[in-house]
Amino acid sequence: MSAPQSRFVKACKAQPVDRTPVWFMRQAGRYMAEYRAVRKRYSLVEICKKPEVAAEVTITAAEALGVDAAIIFADLLLPLEVMGLPFHFEPGEGPVIEKPVREKKDVIQLRVDRAAELGYVAEAVSLVCKHFGTSLPVIGFCGAPFTLASYMIEGGGSRNYVHTKKMMYSSPSVWDELMRKLVAVTSQHAAEQVRAGADVIQIFDSWVGCLSVEDYRRYALPRTTELVNAVQKTGVSVIYFGTDSATLLPSMKQTGAEVIGLDWRIPLDDGWSSLGFQGAVQGNLDPVLLFADWQELKARTKDILRRAGDRPGHIFNLGHGILPETPVENVKALAKFVQEHSTRR
Ligand code: CP3
Repeated sequence: MSAPQSRFVKACKAQPVDRTPVWFMRQAGRYMAEYRAVRKRYSLVEICKKPEVAAEVTITAAEALGVDAAIIFADLLLPLEVMGLPFHFEPGEGPVIEKPVREKKDVIQLRVDRAAELGYVAEAVSLVCKHFGTSLPVIGFCGAPFTLASYMIEGGGSRNYVHTKKMMYSSPSVWDELMRKLVAVTSQHAAEQVRAGADVIQIFDSWVGCLSVEDYRRYALPRTTELVNAVQKTGVSVIYFGTDSATLLPSMKQTGAEVIGLDWRIPLDDGWSSLGFQGAVQGNLDPVLLFADWQELKARTKDILRRAGDRPGHIFNLGHGILPETPVENVKALAKFVQEHSTRR
């Protein structure tokens, strides 16, 4: 860990802090001119694979916004490559996995012995930690097994997750082997980031909301719990984030994650209450509110802070990542507003 005494790390443990820490998912991205300039020279994957460039992108965004944590610049899908599934980003379409996983033989072929080849992410983490020292905590991240499996099986984004659910329902042992392999790779990848100095690991389960509670509990919860436990063994707290997850929150809490990420569809206090107010929560402003006028944005931000109340363990964030056309000035003003209006007496 590089900044164990920071207000962000303390808030993850639901300890009292001087004010609410704030950072944003996708805080480094296309909405920022500095990032677009770097993207003129390198592809997304090239940035990820050049630790000095990934570190620079991470640091530039965190400093420009004045947020309370830096998230390492990388991508959820990088582990697919070392498991034997090449992918690329199609402009306007998102990620495309060249040969999706559909059958038992595809799962058998997936490799779990090459996680060390993702070492460039840990190298970038180490450079960012060196830059910030104890002044700013660094967040490492990885995908949750369900969300990564859905990309592997669908071959990209999906609306109904037909192929994914078909494997779950009709070949549960193949599904479980896939989940097991994903946990083997992502737990090593996360542990490397912690060894490099990451203070907290966020596990993204972006598409888990397509599951019913019963299916979540049967097909996702057991292996996700293994991943959370493996990361916690390295000594850091885990933020577990999903979207469309209102009905799943109590089950997601059973993974043991210290912090649960809330999307914007549920009032923050309702979400926290469904967790029995145990542990910390992160969220949960609708990212589209950053396109609204300042009065509205301010009012909705105040409402979230009011809902969090004086309970320790709120980390301010959006309910999902910053969108590409977002006005940068609003993001900066929002960070400042949260910092000025959450002072604890
Ligand atoms: O938050 C940060 O600042 C760190 C960087 C980060 C990226 N991807 C960089 C990126 C993080 C945390 C991710 C995680 C990620 N990647 C997720 C989970 C987060 C979420 O929003 O739920 C997912 C689902 C992915 C897979 C992925 N990568 C998608 C669906 C896309 C969008 C494709 C598109 O064209 O919009 C990406 C590309 C990507 N990863 C960008 C960035 C900044 C887009 C910008 C670019 O192409 O340069």
